[in-house]
Amino acid sequence: DWTAGNIIEDLSARVREQVGDENVLLGLSGGVDSSVVAALLHRAIGEQLTCVFVDNGLLRLGEGDQVMATFARHMGVRVLRVDAEDRFLDRLAGVADPEQKRKIIGNTFIDVFDEEAGRLENVQWLAQGTIYPDVIESAGASTGKAHVIKSHHNVGGLPERMNLKLLEPLRELFKDEVRRIGLELGLPAEMVQRHPFPGPGLGVRILGEVRKAYTDPLRRADAIFIEELRRHDLYDRTSQAFAVFLPVKSVGVTGDGRRYEYVVALRAVETIDFMTARWAQLPYDFLDHVSRRIINEIDGISRVVYDISGKPPATIEWE
Ligand code: XMP
Repeated sequence: DWTAGNIIEDLSARVREQVGDENVLLGLSGGVDSSVVAALLHRAIGEQLTCVFVDNGLLRLGEGDQVMATFARHMGVRVLRVDAEDRFLDRLAGVADPEQKRKIIGNTFIDVFDEEAGRLENVQWLAQGTIYPDVIESAGASTGKAHVIKSHHNVGGLPERMNLKLLEPLRELFKDEVRRIGLELGLPAEMVQRHPFPGPGLGVRILGEVRKAYTDPLRRADAIFIEELRRHDLYDRTSQAFAVFLPVKSVGVTGDGRRYEYVVALRAVETIDFMTARWAQLPYDFLDHVSRRIINEIDGISRVVYDISGKPPATIEWE
């Protein structure tokens, strides 16, 4: 019968049988699925696992440090951390089209990952955090964003190019099962219950061209929003919440006079399947508090707005 413990034993045995004494590489993003795969494989095959964490400069605040703390320091997993921010931002310079940005981010990720992998000896397997809904999704829809959704970390084409066999131990599990396994494997509850974060990251939360002058304030605004949601016990009551950077200047006024500064939009939704979603009816005084903190603490932002659009017709992300 289904207990997280049984499933872990079962999956571990299967993995050990599959890979034998060969080595496995995993792209660790810090998201729930790849984190659970990392923990599971570490349990199953220990030293045969190497993870690569690519910091593309489009991640949430402190993501890299968190991944290193949880996996490398705490659990003893071998994680190579690659700082690729300049590379990603250079390639994105001047590009405003959302799909173009997604492609560049995906391709750059593959290049960086491939390079790191090339330095390792005797790797035969590429592990991915594919879960059952991803399998159904890619079998079905073939247009629009849906099929790009996992194309960043669960990359079609990459295993062939790298000449690796694909290892997908969570392929038959639903998200809630993946979460239960993660907890059982000792991952912190905050990590296992995290909101989803898109592969292209802040790249699709900055409208139009991505610049370092935008990623930094956006990362901080997002961190304030999430910190306050957690503090007010609202995080687990929303399915996904984040900040979006609008590179338009609106007028603001301070003691010294008028200033023209950027706008941040806050987005929070409730949904079961992410195919449709309602905007979250967060308390006004909570929103007021978050808005004040963002404007007071982050230079260059003088206005915060709240997104009250449902999906459909609006998507959850702004790009
Ligand atoms: P939308 O914006 O299409 O988002 O309503 C639905 C869910 O998918 C996530 N999303 C992505 N995830 N790569 C990803 O890995 C992407 O390109 C991408 N676009 C959207 C989004 O965050 C939401 O959870």
